[in-house]
Amino acid sequence: MTTPADFAPPFATAETPAESARDSLVGRTFCIQTFGCQMNEYDSERMAELLTRSGMTRADSLEEADLALINTCAVREKPSHKVISLLGRLKPVRGGRRRCLAVAGCVAQHQKDALLRQVPWLNLVLGPDAIPRLPALVRRAFDGERLCDTSFTDRHSYAFPGADPETVRGRASALVTVMKGCNNGCAYCVVPRTRGRELSRPVAEVLSEVRAMADAGVREVVLIGQNVNSYDGGCSFAALLGAVCEVDGIARVRFTTSNPHDLGDDLVQAFADLPKLMPSFHLPVQSGCDRVLAKMRRGYTVADYLSRVAKLRAARPGIALTTDIIAGFPGETADEFEETIALCREVRYENIYSFVFSPREGTSAALHEEEWGRVPHEEKVRRLEKLQAVARDISLAYAEAKVGQAVEVLVEGVSKTRGDRLFGRTPESRTVNFEGSARVGEIVPVEITSASANALFGAQRGHGT
Ligand code: SAH
Ligand code: SF4
Ligand code: F3S
Repeated sequence: MTTPADFAPPFATAETPAESARDSLVGRTFCIQTFGCQMNEYDSERMAELLTRSGMTRADSLEEADLALINTCAVREKPSHKVISLLGRLKPVRGGRRRCLAVAGCVAQHQKDALLRQVPWLNLVLGPDAIPRLPALVRRAFDGERLCDTSFTDRHSYAFPGADPETVRGRASALVTVMKGCNNGCAYCVVPRTRGRELSRPVAEVLSEVRAMADAGVREVVLIGQNVNSYDGGCSFAALLGAVCEVDGIARVRFTTSNPHDLGDDLVQAFADLPKLMPSFHLPVQSGCDRVLAKMRRGYTVADYLSRVAKLRAARPGIALTTDIIAGFPGETADEFEETIALCREVRYENIYSFVFSPREGTSAALHEEEWGRVPHEEKVRRLEKLQAVARDISLAYAEAKVGQAVEVLVEGVSKTRGDRLFGRTPESRTVNFEGSARVGEIVPVEITSASANALFGAQRGHGT
């Protein structure tokens, strides 16, 4: 008997769904595990909607599901390795039941059919643009084909997969895609390869999705894209924010992520003009050294960055800034990393997401790593740990300053750590665990009684009195 593993490349493409197998999904189960950023979270929900509409139901685990789908991240080595080890765990046992194993997302897009060769029991590889074709691809995979669909759709015919508002019913906050791809060429970054060229979602589509979510009870939307500042879907990003803030029922608006290079004065002004635009801004700086920033091809200097920070703080006093830092970029000296730490102390970030440099195949930093000077792994980790200690202290100081104050919290649900508490977020996006009786989606004042670096704790005003 031939098994899917016996098929050799070249692999089939997705253009001709097998007519005979039209209903082969009905009654089968699926499970999706998601790695990576909000783009992947959003995509996983769209894939789940497509599969559900095709008659499939959810299983509790990848192991139990007829379709085990892993939505992957390629941004650093660690998350890519996790995928390979997960695929190892899901290797079918001889005589076991036949199921479909699929890889989507950025590792899929980056490795393409090489993944099918590397993992003989893998049935399907699909890139982000293939999401609308998912049900057809899965049908064919269940029929025994091994498929790879990682073609980018022509920008003129690409349609953003819209969200079903029923998926977000009962939630306080929801993601809304405003663009895909990235045209920047940061030297370390694989994203432009995995997500392709920038394409903005038309403003009318974004607004109708936000309205539908508001009608389903959502109070906060987070506009997402890899580089939202260069949004170009019929108006500027600042104008889009203004329009989203006007949607009835929406109380809070956030966005992520943006490159400081593209941060214009109109977006700064939006923080002054739009009270519903929450006072938190993720503005990844990556390094506090001009030489390293130039090598990274970030397109700004430390002075440029600091002047944008000053403008933002003037526009919205108290705005909570967060950032991303890479430790041990090729050629970075210990003194240059000290400049990064000094910048972090100067800006006083609410939170810092820091990573050791990870060479990604095909990027210029990976190609030039030896020439520019590879930083030994232990040294990268030493720098990272030093930065993380500084970041923790600053973050804790911000949190402790809230003790004794009342903060406005959007209630998101029951606390994950204590079932008798609720949890939600402050305008600055800090998590608050609190005693209270509010419903999901309500915005309530909470008196803060204690703080840790990760969360605030307190009680809803008037609760228990
Ligand atoms: N579009 C976002 C970045 C998305 S990737 C932006 O430009 O802000 C998220 C973060 O991962 C980056 O900000 C960077 O700090 C980190 N990162 C990306 N590539 C990396 C690499 N090769 N090694 C280590 N960290 C990396
Ligand atoms: Fe990557 Fe730079 Fe684009 Fe961000 S802006 S996704 S770091 S290339
Ligand atoms: Fe990862 Fe792809 Fe997002 S590489 S960070 S999942 S765009």
